[in-house]
Amino acid sequence: MFDGVPIPATTASVAQPLRAGAPANPTGPFAGRVAIVTGSESGIGRETARLLCEQGAAVVLNGRNAERLEHTRAALAAASHSVASCVADVTDYVSCEELVNTAIEAFGRLDILVTNASISQRAYFADMQPDVFKQVMDSNVYGTVYPLKAALPHLIKAKGSVTFISSISALNGMPSGSAYCAGKAAVANLAHTLRLELAHTGIHFGVVHIGFTQNDPEKRVLAADGQPVPIAHRPPRWQKSQAEVAAIILKHIRRRRQRTVISALGRLIVLVHTYFPRLGDWVVLTTIRRMRHFYE
Ligand SMILES: NC(=O)c1ccc[n+]([C@@H]2O[C@H](COP(=O)([O-])OP(=O)(O)OC[C@H]3O[C@@H](n4cnc5c(N)ncnc54)[C@H](OP(=O)(O)O)[C@@H]3O)[C@@H](O)[C@H]2O)c1
Repeated sequence: MFDGVPIPATTASVAQPLRAGAPANPTGPFAGRVAIVTGSESGIGRETARLLCEQGAAVVLNGRNAERLEHTRAALAAASHSVASCVADVTDYVSCEELVNTAIEAFGRLDILVTNASISQRAYFADMQPDVFKQVMDSNVYGTVYPLKAALPHLIKAKGSVTFISSISALNGMPSGSAYCAGKAAVANLAHTLRLELAHTGIHFGVVHIGFTQNDPEKRVLAADGQPVPIAHRPPRWQKSQAEVAAIILKHIRRRRQRTVISALGRLIVLVHTYFPRLGDWVVLTTIRRMRHFYE
């Protein structure tokens, strides 16, 4: 479990150190903990970072877009949360070392890593440029491996917690999601190996398989030629809010769960994939033409 060393209260940015501020909830379940959430300038990562702050943690935010990252950092700092930020591409190992150094320099320790950064796709395999396939795989696989490699010595010291953000589409294949599904499945498998290999360290390794979630309007995924395009339409009633998903991620971290599958659809996929895999394929194959937009 975590040990309980108090953290210095600060808000900082790698580019521009800002005013100090006390954690908004110094008695919350994550009080005294320091977290990195990758890809937290927007979407689910941002809401996970916000909730960690609200529950007492100091959080290092990350993304590649300096302006958006600063906007998110400033909003959390304005609510008196302890936040720092680091512009870093998590597919680059040296940048991941800088990300981890930001946490250590700003808060002195690191307890929690949530690898959330990811690029998704809206492209069929036959049409996809090879380098687009690689970009999607890299962001999901090396974007998980590199932050963890850089953070590992600190997480060992803290007997910390690592959560890989995966997807229900890692539980089986999904047309138009080849590299994304493969990358998300890879990190789920990686978590299992690390749980065994690093059991003696006391680190928690968990995976959260997220289902359909409301997206920021600006969210883009890659088309077959690498162009950023809006995501496919999803029925709103099937989507959880980002805040709901963040709450589930925090519960997963608090309880040091190995695997959390979000949504009824996710649990249905696990059931069908495990016990009736051919039925699952039949459903997809007989509906794919009619529901093309749903599968994209
Ligand atoms: N929304 C859903 O329905 C859904 C369903 C299943 C799983 N998930 C998973 O949930 C997580 C969050 O998804 P989301 O919907 O919140 O997507 P999002 O809004 O696009 O957030 C992803 C974040 O990752 C950042 N990012 C991407 N590549 C990066 C890189 N190489 N280095 C650093 N940051 C990077 C993006 O910022 P920049 O591109 O500006 O750097 C963005 O801030 C992802 O892992 C996703 O696969 C989402």
